[in-house]
Amino acid sequence: MLEIHDLKKSFGENKVLKGFDMQLKEGENLVIMGKSGSGKSVMIKCLMGLMQPDSGDIRIMGKTVLELEQTELDQLRKKIGFLFQGSALYDSMTVRENLEFPLRKQNMPQKEKDKLVFQALESVGLLDAIELVPNELSGGMKRRVALARAVILHPKIIIYDEPTTGLDPITAKEIIQLMREIQEIYGSSALIITHDVDCSRVIADRMILLIDGLNYAEGSFKELSSSTDERIQAFFK
Ligand SMILES: Nc1ncnc2c1ncn2[C@@H]1O[C@H](COP(=O)(O)OP(=O)(O)O)[C@@H](O)[C@H]1O
Ligand SMILES: [Mg+2]
Repeated sequence: MLEIHDLKKSFGENKVLKGFDMQLKEGENLVIMGKSGSGKSVMIKCLMGLMQPDSGDIRIMGKTVLELEQTELDQLRKKIGFLFQGSALYDSMTVRENLEFPLRKQNMPQKEKDKLVFQALESVGLLDAIELVPNELSGGMKRRVALARAVILHPKIIIYDEPTTGLDPITAKEIIQLMREIQEIYGSSALIITHDVDCSRVIADRMILLIDGLNYAEGSFKELSSSTDERIQAFFK
């Protein structure tokens, strides 16, 4: 579904990614864990074509991202749902308008758009909130709206950047549960970036640890959490 090979990205002297590799298989939930500042968001931005890496290959559903023209990139992005770190809703827009935002370039009748908005909101249990603005929502509700927005075009791949960060533990659990339901409804594969061990335990089919700009270790939660390597163990304490 998605493949990164030897991805490198520096900012001046700051070498963030030093040859990162990963592969997302169809239908799986792949978790990438890394400390704050380890380059997780940089990696995702490169993936989405929002940031230019220094070198490396990125393939998404058979297409080489770095070779694509803008229209092809737009086409590809439609197949990928993206939950931004911290929800990133537009404060001045209602929930409905936030959800319609990814549809603005879609050539489809308003009726069809309304249907997608309703469907997406229903899948996160928030139909009642459709005319509210983000200020009127709790943190958990905002995250659910962001999730609805990420899946509005029924993506094949969903990328979550820190889906539970900033939420209390109970709300975080609800969001994780919802991510699992979403995956069942849409049959999507997920790439989940997090440093939340509880989130990883529940959702990861497979995990990758991003350390020093590299894919340092890969395996199931059980395998990695029982590793004797100190740098791996540090994540699970
Ligand atoms: N646009 C940028 N310009 C310069 N440095 C950046 C930029 N974006 C990220 N960085 C640096 O790259 C490193 C990784 O950042 P980031 O990917 O956001 O970390 P995280 O793993 O917490 O998501 C940090 O040291 C950050 O300061
Ligand atoms: Mg980040």
